[in-house]
Formats: sequence, C-alpha cells, structure tokens
Amino acid sequence: MSTTLITRIGELMTVDDEQRILRDAAVVIDGDRIAWIGTASEAPAADERVDADGRALLPGWVDSHTHLVFDGDRTAEFEARMAGQSYAAGGIAVTRDATRTASDERLAALVAARVREARAQGTTWVETKTGYGLDTPSEQRSARIAAEGVDDATFLGAHLVPAGVDPDEYVREVCGPMLDAVRPFVSWADVFCERGAFTPEQSREALLAARAAGLGLRVHGNQLGHGEGIRLAVELGAASVDHCNYVSDADLDALASGSTVATVLPACDLSTRAPLAPARRLLDAGVEVAIASNCNPGTSYTSSMPFCVATAVLQMGLSVAEAVRAATRGGAIALGRDSGPGAVGSIAVGHRADLHLLEAPSATHLAYRPGMPLTAGVWKDGRRVAAPLVAR
Ligand code: NIG
Repeated sequence: MSTTLITRIGELMTVDDEQRILRDAAVVIDGDRIAWIGTASEAPAADERVDADGRALLPGWVDSHTHLVFDGDRTAEFEARMAGQSYAAGGIAVTRDATRTASDERLAALVAARVREARAQGTTWVETKTGYGLDTPSEQRSARIAAEGVDDATFLGAHLVPAGVDPDEYVREVCGPMLDAVRPFVSWADVFCERGAFTPEQSREALLAARAAGLGLRVHGNQLGHGEGIRLAVELGAASVDHCNYVSDADLDALASGSTVATVLPACDLSTRAPLAPARRLLDAGVEVAIASNCNPGTSYTSSMPFCVATAVLQMGLSVAEAVRAATRGGAIALGRDSGPGAVGSIAVGHRADLHLLEAPSATHLAYRPGMPLTAGVWKDGRRVAAPLVAR
C-alpha cells in the first residue's frame, strides 16, 4: 500500500477527543487510513509528498442527512415560497411523480453527480434517504440506488402518505412489504413525524417495525411546529432527530438526558424561511449537535456543507470550532461512525483518511469568507478525489 505525507499544514483541526489544533503539522496516510499525525519537522518519509504550504486541514464533512435519489424540479414551489407561501409537505408528491418515471440509469447518474458536487466542497461521507418512491417497488429501487451511490442508505417510506391511500393502510405497507423489500439495501430507517405527514402513533409504529428488522432509527421532527417528534426519537433511542426548529423545554430536557443527536439543517431553514434551529441553545444544554445539508429538491437544494457551516456561525451563534465539529464528528456520531477502526469525522491514527484541505490558512475563513470556493483538496479513503477549485 502506498503512503502519502501531507506536510506544512498551517492549521490541523483533529476534531478528535482532545480537539487538538496543531500548527506547522503533518499527516501520513497509509492506504485508506491515517497512520501518523504530528509536527512537520518530525514527519516520517512517504511515497508521495503533498506540500500544504500553510493551508488548513480538516476532517472531510460528514453529511448525515440528504435526499439525493430524485428527479424533477421544484423551482415553481420555491418561487411561490419566496413570494410568501409557507412550506408544506405535499410538494414531496411532485418529486415522487418525477422520480417514479425516471429510469434506473438516470436516477443513479443524478445521485452520482450530486455526490460529485458534494465532494468538490469537502464532503467525504454521505447519508441519503429513499422517500420519493412511496410504493414498494419504487422505494426498493431508490434504496438500491442509494446503497450503490452513497456511504449510508436510509429507508424513508414514511415520508408522505400518497394521496388517495388510507394512512393506516399505507403505514401497514411501510412496516411490512416495503420494509422487507428495502431491508437488504439500508441500515437506517427514518420517519417524517409532523403535521401533514405522519402522526406520532404512526411514526412509532414505523420505527418499531424498522427496529425489529434490525435497522437504526432516525426521525424528521419538529420542523414545521411543536410536536412529539423529538421526544419520540429520544424515547426510542434514535441515533438522530433532524430539523429541530421548534424545541420546547421538555424537548431540550429529553435530548440532554438521552444520546440522540440533534441534527440542524441551516440551508433548509434559510430556504424555507423557517425559524433557525436553536443550535446554540442545544449546545449550551449539553446536546450533541450535527450539521447536515438536507440536500433535496423541496426544502434545501444545496449539498454545500461550507455554506451550512458558515450559516451556523453567522446566524446560529456557533463558534467556528463548534460548527466544524458538528459538520464532521457530529455527523459521524449521528451515523454511529465516530469511533473504532475506520471511523470518520475526525483525524486520528486508524481512522479513515477522509480529509479536506482548505484554500485558506484557518477554518475561520469558512465563516469569514462565506460563499467562497475554499476547497483545495479532498481525500476519501486515502485517495485524492477532488482537485482544487481555485489555483493559488
Ligand atoms: O427534510 N421534511 C421532510 N423531508 C424533506 C423535504 C422533502 C421535500 O419537500 O421534498 C426535508 O426537508
């Protein structure tokens, strides 16, 4: 296996247990793993040498919430929202129709293109969900395409009750034949527990069936209003509850007492003109927070984690270090990938060599220069996968 030395790193954020920030640092990659971290002057030789020339190095972003398996366009809905209409879950059906009519090849190509876009901005681990099929054959196809295209695939049959279908009958399908059909392709199940989508009772039923089938649990909760999503997620030991725009004191207490990660989705909040998720309040209460892009055609058509990190700093009151952690290790914790050999979301010996070299001397530039193309290089499993977007 070949080794790579990345040296003369101006700022190395490990985001590991010690949260180290090293100056004039170096990292050695051996195959697909991190083999050494330390001061540049003490670094061992390697087969290949990359001179970071003072740039900052971070773990690659871990995007723990996306919906990439879709076709179609929702520009008109976006325009209507910008003209004053509020977001409603019903738009999911528009994407469902376009997705069902797309060929397998087209859907797979669309997912691959979206992953490439994310990689070019430093994302090295991607979760994605089904949820635009909404019948058993279509959900199974989405699950298969998701499993082939990304790192973690999630079953979201409980995204919307299709019009004209009895809700209880649909939940029975989600919990029975649909779950059986997607099971070989996914490791997670999610449910949209919200007014206009699934009630807490229906959500519980879907989550319990998924847990019995051996899947880890995730919940879309408290996006459009106060409700039981967060508390249900904590009660059932879900790995993550995502959105969290409306958080009551009881929700906060539940999150602080459990192990469920609160995943905030800053780009979605902006794109739906929703109240920003209270990430500062969550962190102050001791809750583990993750930041994800929620890339999807309805509420957040961006896979840019740098944009989400900048928004979390500029609008949600997080420090740069807190936002970087939430978008790397926070996402890894939300996906159960933060520890052990091959862990992601932090730079430590034995972890996966998923790295993001910035075209900047420090991570502060992510918020200081919002919207700028600040990715100079990306390594996934030790292999350089994205060329610099800008030349120096
Ligand atoms: O996470 N909230 C539910 N699902 C997506 C939106 C899906 C859509 O509108 O297409 C979300 O925001």
